[in-house]
Amino acid sequence: MSATIQIRPLQPSDAQAYQALRLEALRTSPEAFGSSYEEEAPLALETIRARMPSTDPNAIFGAFAGKDLVGVAGFAVYERLKARHKGVMWGVFVKPEWRKQRVGKALVQHVIDHASRHVIMLEAAVGLANASARRTYHGLGFKPYGIERKAIRVGDIFHDEELLYLDLPQPRDA
Ligand SMILES: CC(C)(COP(=O)(O)OP(=O)(O)OC[C@H]1O[C@@H](n2cnc3c(N)ncnc32)[C@H](O)[C@@H]1OP(=O)(O)O)[C@@H](O)C(=O)NCCC(=O)NCCS
Repeated sequence: MSATIQIRPLQPSDAQAYQALRLEALRTSPEAFGSSYEEEAPLALETIRARMPSTDPNAIFGAFAGKDLVGVAGFAVYERLKARHKGVMWGVFVKPEWRKQRVGKALVQHVIDHASRHVIMLEAAVGLANASARRTYHGLGFKPYGIERKAIRVGDIFHDEELLYLDLPQPRDA
């Protein structure tokens, strides 16, 4: 990965940059996300800011090239008592001009390291046809456990998703 990239959790002050990147992701890779551009584009900046995770361990990690946000990856722990040992990685995106430079891998590894401190299993879902994301996740140890057929519909096209898990060592605060 380029030495100029730094990864840190996004803060409320990053909301504008996050909104722009998120909308770019939803517009350019609609089949990769459960949310849609049509649903999120009308949201006010304050709504985005309010939705950004504010309490650890939930977080959105940003990859920065200088001051520019060039990639993101989210992490959330299941809320219900019997599921709090599991977390989910969501919303992974790298700006097209920064791809194939190990930024995605670094973001996902960051989520894994963070998740390891809080949960014993990390889940993710990836489009079966999404070679770059599948290679990124599989390369970092995620294992497939099933296929969700027709998980995402974009226009008239249905996209199957591969369901993934990664076992993590028992965290200190579990
Ligand atoms: C998936 C994504 C985040 C990967 O980001 P990236 O920064 O380009 O990935 P990296 O450079 O870290 O590469 C990680 C691995 O994927 C491979 N890879 C990257 N792009 C690839 C492509 N287009 N085809 C095949 N493999 C690819 C790399 O070779 C690397 O594998 P290796 O370590 O075995 O060499 C990026 O392509 C993206 O934002 N895609 C659109 C949104 C998306 O699909 N998000 C995932 C939702 S589940």
